[in-house]
Formats: sequence, structure tokens, C-alpha cells
Amino acid sequence: MAVSKIFIAGAGNIGASCAEVMARKQLGRVHLYDINENFALGQVMDINQASPSFGSDTPVRACSSIDELEGSDVVVISAGVARHAGMSRLDLLQQNLDIVRGIGSSIMSYCPAAKVLLITNPVDVLAWYLKDRWPSMNVFGLGCSLDALRFRFFMAEAAGVSVNSVAGTVIGLHNNSMIPLVNYATAGGVPIRRLLSGPEIESVINKTKDAGTAIVSKLINRSGFYAASNTIAEIIESMVFNKRAVFPLSVWCRGEYGHHDICLALPAVVGEGGVHRLVVPDLDEDERRMLDACAVEIKSEIEKTASPK
Ligand code: 2OP
Repeated sequence: MAVSKIFIAGAGNIGASCAEVMARKQLGRVHLYDINENFALGQVMDINQASPSFGSDTPVRACSSIDELEGSDVVVISAGVARHAGMSRLDLLQQNLDIVRGIGSSIMSYCPAAKVLLITNPVDVLAWYLKDRWPSMNVFGLGCSLDALRFRFFMAEAAGVSVNSVAGTVIGLHNNSMIPLVNYATAGGVPIRRLLSGPEIESVINKTKDAGTAIVSKLINRSGFYAASNTIAEIIESMVFNKRAVFPLSVWCRGEYGHHDICLALPAVVGEGGVHRLVVPDLDEDERRMLDACAVEIKSEIEKTASPK
């Protein structure tokens, strides 16, 4: 199998940590780019000096120019301004829109067939923006994949079982309107509703929704990155090795639950071509109402991106 070229745009905490996890998992030739060349270089020096410990002979490469996108099979966009305490993800929209638009344009020039995973917040709106601006781009957002990981962690903690024994997902939007799908959540194959009380489930849902904000409120001027970078590496691993694992990615809706031309986080099968198909679960009335509310919300956010293309 040909070794994939993986280009990470943005060498901040998420981008650099992603590069480290991907190098550790030996997913391909990892390139780390940042507008601040020394920053990318410093992060890469540190990661490569760790490589004897994890046994990789494929060093991560620091990129000083966006032209080095050329030939990339996979691009991860993590560049942009991160949330500080007191900010919502939507507060980042205008600044990050400019950054993501620039990188999108370079992707279309240098590697238009690459699979593009967008991380930059607000992720669902920016994923929509890239797909609307360049319909042929093979792009999807991280969506609720990180939230699903957190949901699994908090369920395992509440149920007192191994994280390996818990399954569950989250759909909708990567913000407070996210929808943890409790009806499909299990521990050891047993529905979570049989193992946790109503108030315990409520607490798991609230912790899942607040997790990102709770981390920012402690770190003050940066957001969390360990969980995000591990999820991102899992998604890329599924592409590189065609594992067809399912992640709730932010995808362009083509009639799912009656929604069109917006991006929502829905369970997606991820393999060598990117998203192979969606695995659309039946939703109860409440979940359906919450998903419709997500659709209304993203439509109003999309209007805020309206500017000359
Ligand atoms: C989070 O939820 C950074 O949005 C990201 O931690």
C-alpha cells in the first residue's frame, strides 16, 4: 500500500498533538505547516526527538510554505484562533472564516482530490462554507466525533465500567445543541438506561455538552487538545487503512431527516475515499425535534458567512 501524505495545517496544540499521535501510529508521511514557520519547526523537532521511543523511522516534516500541500492525500485543517475562556465557538467565526478560506483555496490549487478533515471552529458552519464554496472538495468536519468520545468517557465513569465496554454517539452540532443519543448507548451491550438512573443520565449528558467549555475555563487562553487529537488520528487511521469505522462527522445533508444544503454531524462510515456513506439512526420525537432545532440554528449561522466569495 502506498504511504499516504498527510498534511496538517496549523501547528497549534491540536495540530501538533495530532502530528505526534499520527507519527506514533505510523499513519503516513506527516507534514506540519504553520504560518509561523519556527513554530511548526519547534513542534516537529520535539516530536521527532521522541520517535526512538515509539519506533517510527518516518520523521514528521515541518513546512514553511502552504505550497507543500502538493501531493497530499489527506489534509487536516486545524489552523485558526482557539477559544479563550468566556467565548463561544461561534465567536470565532469571522476570524477563522478568513483563515479557512485561504487554506481551502490552496487545497483546490495543490491537491484538489485530497480528503479534507476540518477541525477549526465553529466546525459545522466552516465545513458547510468549504463545501458550498468548492462543491468538488472532498471535505467533512470533525462534527460531534470529539463529543462522542467524551460521552463514552462520562458514561463509563458513571456506570463504573471500562471505557472499552461502552458504545455511544452524539449527533447534531458541535456546540451546546449537540444530541447524545442515549437510546443507542450501551455498556457491555446492555442499554445504558438499564444501568443508570434518569438523573445520572442527565448528568452524563450535561457533562458531555459542557466538556469543551469546562476545559477552556481552566486553561483560560486555550482549549483542550488531547481528546481532539486522538479522535482526529482515529478518523485518519480509518481512511488510511480503509477501516470503515463510524464517526459523527459534519457532512453536507442530502435529505437526511428532511434536511438539505446544510452540514450536520451524522454517523459516517470513513474509509479510503473519505466518507463512504451515512448510517442514519431512527430518532425518537424529542431527538428529531432537537435535530430540527440544530438545522434552524446552523442556517442562521450560515447567513453570517455571507460575504463576497
Ligand atoms: C472542544 O470542544 C476545541 O471545540 C473543541 O474542546
